[in-house]
Amino acid sequence: MPTRVRSHAKINLGLTIGPARADGYHALATIYQTLAIHDFVEVSAERLREGFDSQIVIHCDDVRVPCDERNTCWKIVDLALRRLDVAARVNIHLEKRLPVQGGLGAGSANAAAALIGLERELGTALPEAERLAIVAETGSDVPLFLIGGTVLGLGRGEEVHPLPDLPETECVLAVPEVAVSTPRAFAEWDGLQQSQVSELRPGAPDHDRLKQLGRAWVAALAGSQGSSAIATGVFPEKDWAGNLLLELVRAGIENDFESVVFSEYPSLRGILEILKNGSEKESSAIYAALSGSGSTLFGLYRSHADAGAAIERLEGAHVQVYETRTIGRERYQREMFDAD
Ligand code: C5P
Repeated sequence: MPTRVRSHAKINLGLTIGPARADGYHALATIYQTLAIHDFVEVSAERLREGFDSQIVIHCDDVRVPCDERNTCWKIVDLALRRLDVAARVNIHLEKRLPVQGGLGAGSANAAAALIGLERELGTALPEAERLAIVAETGSDVPLFLIGGTVLGLGRGEEVHPLPDLPETECVLAVPEVAVSTPRAFAEWDGLQQSQVSELRPGAPDHDRLKQLGRAWVAALAGSQGSSAIATGVFPEKDWAGNLLLELVRAGIENDFESVVFSEYPSLRGILEILKNGSEKESSAIYAALSGSGSTLFGLYRSHADAGAAIERLEGAHVQVYETRTIGRERYQREMFDAD
């Protein structure tokens, strides 16, 4: 029997971009949040006798997904087999439910799920340090999917720290038809920084500032409970998602990519406004933003009715929508192997 693993989407509640590093990546601080919506990754693996080479075969029901070495699942399984020094015939079936458009980390989540499935199938696990190394090598936002829930990302996004979970909240995803290139969005951000520095405005925050920002977000998420809530991972019930998100906004959470991506694709700003604003003030989103470098945008709502109203507004504007909820760490890990 193959191992079937759920591969959840993420959004970035906020993302602050720091300076470009010597390795070409950018330092950043972000808060990732996993969502209930997911793909399925089905893995079967059979060990081969010594002297045989590994074979990795990927099938996907979505023709837009490459099934060769470019696929993140292929990359991570290849890396894992080499590090484990195991030859195996590995079959992976990707059942896509998530939009292929960027911002939701679908490819990264698929990779994390493929690794988890492979380890189960082979009945072996990589030593933790090696596991983290190949996960980070596959992509900056793959490590978050080993944890799930609300997660602080530092470094280039791969240094992940579990945070107390945001209570489960209604979430609407708006998926515009445009595709945003992440490397290009970073390059445009760099260009913007240079022009601002030349106008004597402060440039991108350095590593220390990013860490401070991360700490401010953690403190905002911990609310009045301070560090004890962080340590236990438990929030008092009176602190509902709306208050926490407002605290995060006060602590400076925003997505730096919005400035560059919205100037390239002005229609996305309009979609963000539709997500944010209901006709009645009460039904507006608690918080709405671009996820990652986009083009997916999201809104978080106080009730199912508010989310439904946002969906109607978006459908009226002919924007593709998905309805989902944020998902906490405990449920993320518990339901990972649920077959349907
Ligand atoms: O790590 P990942 O493969 O997802 O990154 C895709 C591209 O995005 C990188 O090749 C790099 O150009 C850019 N990137 C970056 N800084 C980061 C993450 C990604 O410049 N922190």
